[in-house]
Amino acid sequence: MAPKKTHKNKIYEGKAKILYAAPEAGHLVQYFKDDATAFNNQKKGVIAGKGVINNIISEFFMLRLAEIGIPTHFIKRLNMREQLVHRVEIIKLEVIIRNLAAGSLVKRLGIKEGDRLPRNIIEFCLKDDALGDPLVSEEHILTFGWATPDELEQMVVYAGRINDFMQGVFAAIGIYLVDFKIEFGRMETKDGQLMLVLADEISPDSCRLWDMKSGKKLDKDRFRLDLGAVSDAYNEVANRLGLLPAISETKKEE
Ligand code: TMP
Repeated sequence: MAPKKTHKNKIYEGKAKILYAAPEAGHLVQYFKDDATAFNNQKKGVIAGKGVINNIISEFFMLRLAEIGIPTHFIKRLNMREQLVHRVEIIKLEVIIRNLAAGSLVKRLGIKEGDRLPRNIIEFCLKDDALGDPLVSEEHILTFGWATPDELEQMVVYAGRINDFMQGVFAAIGIYLVDFKIEFGRMETKDGQLMLVLADEISPDSCRLWDMKSGKKLDKDRFRLDLGAVSDAYNEVANRLGLLPAISETKKEE
C-alpha cells in the first residue's frame, strides 16, 4: 500500500520501508510498507497489514532494548505505519545471530534444520543487493573499513545482549528465536561525536520465529516458502507479545 500522506520529502525507499524527511534536522520518518521481497528481490508480494504490525513490534523491541542499555535510532511511534527515528549513517552490514540451524546456514554447511547450535553464532553479510548480500568475515570488515575495530567490537557485544534479551521474551510466549538480522548506524551526538546505535527494525520480517510446541513458522519464511497464512502468523506474534490492543488503537486513530 502506498503511503497516503504526500507532505514529506522522500529520502530513501527500500524494499519494506520508506524514509522521509522530518521537521527537525537529524530526524527521519520511517514508514512501514506491506511490501515483501525475498531471495534478493526475485520474489515480490504484499502481506496485508504487515507494515502496521511490524511498526508496533519494532517499537516494542526498540523501547525494551533501550531499557536494557542498547542505544537505538528510535524516538517515538507517530501513527499506524510511521515512527520518528534519528537520522543515522547505516553501516553496510547485516548482523545475523543464530541460535538454531535454519536458512542459509543449513544450505551452506549441511547442518540439520532445527538443530540447536552448540553456541550462538554471529555472522556478517555485506549489504549490497548487486552482490546478493555476501557473507563476509571480520577480516574483510576491518580490511575494507566497513566498520572500525571499536564499532565491530561494540556490534558483537550488543548483538549478544540483544539475542539474550529477545530469546527470553520469545521463550516466555512459547516461541523459539531461531535467528534474526539487525542493522546498526552511526548517529551524530549533540557534541559532534559518532555513536553506534541499533537501527532499521526488529520484526517477523527480520527474525525466524518457531512455535515451541508445533514448530509452526511464525515469520517471513511463510512468505519465502509459500506456506500461506502469512498475515495471520505476524498477527499471532503481535498477539502473544500483548500488542494487539495497541494495533487496534492505532487503527482507530487513523
Ligand atoms: P538466512 O538464513 O537467510 O541467512 O537469514 C538469517 C536471518 O536473517 C533470518 O532471520 C532472516 C534474516 N534476513 C533478513 O532479515 N534479511 C535478509 O535479507 C536475509 C537474507 C535474511
